[in-house]
Amino acid sequence: MPVDYTRQGPVGVLTLNRPDALNALSREMLAGIHTALDAAGSDPEVRVVIITGAGDKAFCAGADIATMRTASASEARDFAGLGHAVGARLEAFPRPVIAAINGYALGGGCELALACDIRLASERARFGQPEVNIGVLPGWGGTQRLVRIAGLAFAKELIFTGRMCDADEAAAHGLANRVVPHASLMNEATALAELIATKGPWAVTQAKLMTNLALDGGQQGNLDRERDLFALAFTTADQREGMAAFFDKRPPAFEGR
Ligand code: CAA
Repeated sequence: MPVDYTRQGPVGVLTLNRPDALNALSREMLAGIHTALDAAGSDPEVRVVIITGAGDKAFCAGADIATMRTASASEARDFAGLGHAVGARLEAFPRPVIAAINGYALGGGCELALACDIRLASERARFGQPEVNIGVLPGWGGTQRLVRIAGLAFAKELIFTGRMCDADEAAAHGLANRVVPHASLMNEATALAELIATKGPWAVTQAKLMTNLALDGGQQGNLDRERDLFALAFTTADQREGMAAFFDKRPPAFEGR
């Protein structure tokens, strides 16, 4: 399978599994991501998803250059659309998605990570948008999401030069949330996922929705929506349970409703 999916308790783990090609994303791989997200999304036990790459070299070295080499403009447009659809799916996925970046995250691989909610980087991770090295520009959202996440100046430098940056530099610009030892990357990602999984699931889902809206402008409209969702929280069992557990001095048993 080009994309493996397993569940460990409340955590769905999606592994890009094409290590011989540094997990480069072909059409089949992109379809495999959707299939894995279908499985995670239809499983009520799953509260957080982790995406990582097989092998110890790469998270994902980008879109599959072999697929693109002889593409016409219309085929390239279609391929860009497939990448955009995966990015949109990850952003709209009702559970948090953590990218556990175990090596190269380049081009479409960096763009895949950018569409996730949280990026944990192994000290061996290398980030970049090297598309200009091969005569194209980022096509799976890099010109937009990298700017929003890492800032315009750093995004322009990475995109215009095609150079890689290491994990520490990525973290300094907010591209990685934090850097962890390579050997403990999956343990750290799982611990983070399990921590989130203990929180009110309904609230976490709404918080993902609202924080994603924050950079889209329209702050007053978003604040109005935040107020409405905050009010809606008080119709849920999770709110009653969470506040009762606080006063009972016990951990809450959330049901996600
Ligand atoms: N597509 C297809 N195959 C790829 C690939 C990619 N993006 N990246 C690596 N591979 C393949 C290589 O062709 C090679 O295959 P063979 O063993 O059959 O020759 C195998 O993976 C291992 O790669 P290398 O031998 O090159 O490994 P290395 O350690 O010497 O170099 C690397 C590693 C620096 C990451 C190098 O592989 C590289 O530069 N890869 C391309 C990175 C890139 O340009 N990504 C952007 C793609 S364009 C894109 O993503 C557009 C978009 O926005 C949608």
